[in-house]
Amino acid sequence: MLARIIQFLVVLAASTIGLTIFHANANPDVKSASLTPAVGKVKGLNIVVTGGSSGIAYEAIHKFVERGATVYLTSRSPDRAREAATRINEEAKTKECPMGYGDPVGTAVGLGLDLTDGTSIDAFTKSLSLALGDEKLDILVLNAGMVYPSDFQGEYSVTLAENAPPVDRQIAANHLGHFKLVSNLKPKLTESRIIMTTSVSHWLGTSFAEDGVTGAVPQNAGPWPVREAYSPPEVFGLYGASKLQNVLFAFALQRRLPDSTVVLFTPGFCSTKIGNSDRAEGLFNVLDWIPFTNTAKQGGDMLLASAKVSKEESTGKILFPYWLAEGAGDYLGNGLLRGMFHNFIQELLLQKFSQSRVYASPAKSIAYDVTLQDKLWEWSEKSVTPA
Ligand SMILES: NC(=O)c1ccc[n+]([C@@H]2O[C@H](COP(=O)([O-])OP(=O)(O)OC[C@H]3O[C@@H](n4cnc5c(N)ncnc54)[C@H](OP(=O)(O)O)[C@@H]3O)[C@@H](O)[C@H]2O)c1
Repeated sequence: MLARIIQFLVVLAASTIGLTIFHANANPDVKSASLTPAVGKVKGLNIVVTGGSSGIAYEAIHKFVERGATVYLTSRSPDRAREAATRINEEAKTKECPMGYGDPVGTAVGLGLDLTDGTSIDAFTKSLSLALGDEKLDILVLNAGMVYPSDFQGEYSVTLAENAPPVDRQIAANHLGHFKLVSNLKPKLTESRIIMTTSVSHWLGTSFAEDGVTGAVPQNAGPWPVREAYSPPEVFGLYGASKLQNVLFAFALQRRLPDSTVVLFTPGFCSTKIGNSDRAEGLFNVLDWIPFTNTAKQGGDMLLASAKVSKEESTGKILFPYWLAEGAGDYLGNGLLRGMFHNFIQELLLQKFSQSRVYASPAKSIAYDVTLQDKLWEWSEKSVTPA
């Protein structure tokens, strides 16, 4: 039986790739480009990275610090943030300085930030503003993100504004909290680079909330459907919606901050602590045992590439660590089926075969809908309290 399933998957993958090679670049407006991954010069820059206590960002921050940047990294737990910063600073001291980057004079600073809590976002903004003084923020990485662990115990609903309806925690952590953070930090964002960590799962998000779960924007004024418990497909659908929100938000933000550069990337499928309720260092991680996952460090390399890539190369695209079969849309549509193809066939099974490059590829086509982008913006404004 297993052999038959594997045979089916291989044939499906091979035939889809074959078909898509002939139909690549089906979206005439946004073409893919293959870029060379590299770490840029960051010496002396102020960088904020949300969710730097583990995973892909934790790995990338090492390189920023080794090359002389001041990095403010965050965790929901101030202790975890400080411990991660201490480890990074200690390790940076032991590294040989790469040619041409000068002495490693960078520092990591750990701060508490819970993106599902408006008070925490405001407190973080105050601490950061004090630390920055008159200086601007050079790079803001909106990276923190979550998927409900299977043993999730907490509240599914949270409120980010006093009179706003409750929202789902994944939507709050992955999108709304970042929206509020950007609003708070706007005075510090001048000719800055804003990097957002999205996912190929954004294909699973839709523009309507008929199924009550996957909508990118709520269609009515009522609360986001907040349940007692979610089934795994619902959790993943919500995750996809939050990642589509990242893309819509990024494109809308680029229009509103034309002098800044907004870059979207996905790390690919990486073995990190995502979806794991245990946040302690070095414990068993089920993702380590799934074949074809990339390491957290490989995912971190995508973040580093996002700090370097030019505005021309990245605008209106998502950086992927693998070649994206754009033509798949001709056969699979632009919805769930295509999302599953990209998630489960291309990423889960095939990302290893093209991982040494960075590809700038189009997002799901509804992400380019300016009306939808603005609708999400308006809903987000109503759902958070300004600082
Ligand atoms: N791993 C993958 O395969 C994959 C694929 C595509 C996209 N991504 C995206 O990559 C990003 C980073 O995830 P990762 O894979 O590196 O997972 P990770 O190891 O779990 O890291 C997630 C980070 O986000 C922080 N975080 C979680 N919930 C938060 C909240 N409510 N408020 C503030 N911070 C919060 C965590 O900090 P604490 O737990 O210490 O608070 C941690 O530092 C996410 O946006 C994820 O969606 C990952």
